Amino acid sequence: MRTTVGIIGAGPAGLLLARLLRGAGIDSVVLESRDRAHVEHRQRAGILEQGTVDVLRAAGAGERMDREGLRHDGIELRFARRRHRVDFPGLTGGRSVMVYAQTEVCRDLIALRTKEGGPLLFEAEALAVEGADTDAPRVRFRHAGREDVLECSYVAGCDGFWGVARKAVPASLSRVFERTYPYAWLGILADVAPSHDELVYARHDRGFALLSMRSPSVSRLYLQVPAGTEAGEWSDEDVWGELERRFETTDGWRLERGPITQKSVTPMRSYVHEPMRYGRLFLAGDAAHIVPPTGAKGLNLAVGDVVTLARALAHEKETGSPELLDAYSETCLRRVWQAERFSYDMTTLLHRAPDATAFDDRLQLARLERIASSRAAGTDLAEAYTGFPVG
Ligand code: APR
Ligand code: PHB
Repeated sequence: MRTTVGIIGAGPAGLLLARLLRGAGIDSVVLESRDRAHVEHRQRAGILEQGTVDVLRAAGAGERMDREGLRHDGIELRFARRRHRVDFPGLTGGRSVMVYAQTEVCRDLIALRTKEGGPLLFEAEALAVEGADTDAPRVRFRHAGREDVLECSYVAGCDGFWGVARKAVPASLSRVFERTYPYAWLGILADVAPSHDELVYARHDRGFALLSMRSPSVSRLYLQVPAGTEAGEWSDEDVWGELERRFETTDGWRLERGPITQKSVTPMRSYVHEPMRYGRLFLAGDAAHIVPPTGAKGLNLAVGDVVTLARALAHEKETGSPELLDAYSETCLRRVWQAERFSYDMTTLLHRAPDATAFDDRLQLARLERIASSRAAGTDLAEAYTGFPVG
């Protein structure tokens, strides 16, 4: 099998890249190790930056998002039993975000790709990327019980944190920057209308809590729990009780309960692999970097990477110049590190470390007070949350 761009992974990075390349007249093959149902049902984050929304629309993949997505003009920070709203358009000159689940973005992109007959192989597991430093890189993969080779001009490693693409970068050239956190998120989906019309990020002495949503009738909620916690350790009753405590306010706000339909634990990690390019292999999305979910940046970073890559490949096709491909890693990493910084700041602003001292608690409250009382500090948060420009 032969193609111009071999794409490993059908998460948002791989699927959107295939779509953008198609628009630029560049053919690709997408290899995905899992089956379609798995990809279309796994629960992930749900906040799209303004720039991500614009990219999906321009790629012709925004129709259902515009119908079913919920535009959000702010978030609430909750601390010391008080509430502070961060007004995005007011602080950023009109920017907002969209609540539309990553799962739905993937479904829409898969439906388009399938309808248009673009090669997208499920249950096709990449085994290795070979010859990345030559003019003819290859992806060895296993599909339908037999091994095959995808001959490419370029390979895009969009295979997430646990993928194989990153391993093709020689250890002598790789640099990894990493931090793990001593806590995780216990996430639930519940069949109940969200108790607030915007997301609520709560700092509490017992730990962080987040109220999010998937639709006007489905809530998505998270609780900070110790790293290593299993979802089964928490009964539904315990989850609701703890959420109520952490969201409690002085003004009588109430958290509505409903049947919990899903419960899982997400670990928290910051991770960057440099460089994001080796020869004709380009890493994009979680394959190259991970952020803790507090800043809602994971999906948006993946989108930024593949927009940069598609642009660079189109430029090379049109002009013969590899200059944008050569700049790919550096261009992406500037944005990646800003997202790493913001995600780290949001995480340490709102979570309570197991060894936190009274001094740390006071400092967190002072940081939150500063955001609530200074337009400059509020703007800093709003600009980062609604997104940094791509490129
Ligand atoms: N061969 C083929 N496919 C693979 C392989 C492999 N060896 N290894 C992993 N994959 C697939 C996974 O099954 C998954 O579908 O690659 C895909 C990677 O998708 P994501 O993990 O969703 O990563 P990405 O597209 O970069 O999107 C980043 O996803 O994890 C969230 O928070 C993160 O929102 C961010 C987004
Ligand atoms: C989600 O809805 O899943 C979500 C929202 C905001 C975050 C993280 C996750 O910061």
